[in-house]
Amino acid sequence: MYRKIIRRRTIRKYKQRAVPKEILVKCVDAARLSPSGANLQPLKYVIINNGELLKKVFKTLRWAGYLPDYQPSIEEMPMAYIVILLDQKVANSYGHDAGIAAMSISMVAYDEGLGSCILGAIDRKQLEKILNIHDNLNIVLVIALGYPAEKPVPDKMKNGDQKYWLDEKEVLHVPKKEFEDIVNWNVFSP
Ligand SMILES: Cc1cc2nc3c(=O)[nH]c(=O)nc-3n(C[C@H](O)[C@H](O)[C@H](O)COP(=O)(O)O)c2cc1C
Repeated sequence: MYRKIIRRRTIRKYKQRAVPKEILVKCVDAARLSPSGANLQPLKYVIINNGELLKKVFKTLRWAGYLPDYQPSIEEMPMAYIVILLDQKVANSYGHDAGIAAMSISMVAYDEGLGSCILGAIDRKQLEKILNIHDNLNIVLVIALGYPAEKPVPDKMKNGDQKYWLDEKEVLHVPKKEFEDIVNWNVFSP
């Protein structure tokens, strides 16, 4: 499990190959059985795998904010989405639940050979309209899914710069903070 978690990277470019329905069901089932604050389970899901709809949803999402020139084209778009919704009738501030569900989905997807991207930069008004989302439901996150067409690599963060970057071979490098820079054992050192 540890190896898989550290090797997973966000994928933003995908092969145009269908994602099997059984994998999508597994992803949402993992989210369904994930931890939930007070066990309220306020989340609902929309699974999207219909060709025309995939294109419409794609246009509502904002990719790789740090790299305006590194955007997936329509020929590299995700082949499925799972939209995470919060039911306001059940709870109104359960962002943690959505984050945990998103990671469960991403890890099951990774385990099945899929790439994923968690997206928070969404034209929510537009997406609500496209998916006919009911008034009591808020779109929290969208998880894009598909077989990977890129291989990003983790990198050491330099000069505190968190922006991912492309090398001359168009490989995406993702800066990560060092263990020592973020961890204190027992108490903070002076
Ligand atoms: C809550 C959340 C929201 C995110 N929103 C977006 C997004 O809107 N667009 C995007 O391209 N990536 C998005 N990402 C992906 C992050 O950019 C990515 O996780 C980060 O650069 C680290 O890369 P890694 O996942 O490969 O470790 C989001 C990730 C998280 C956890």
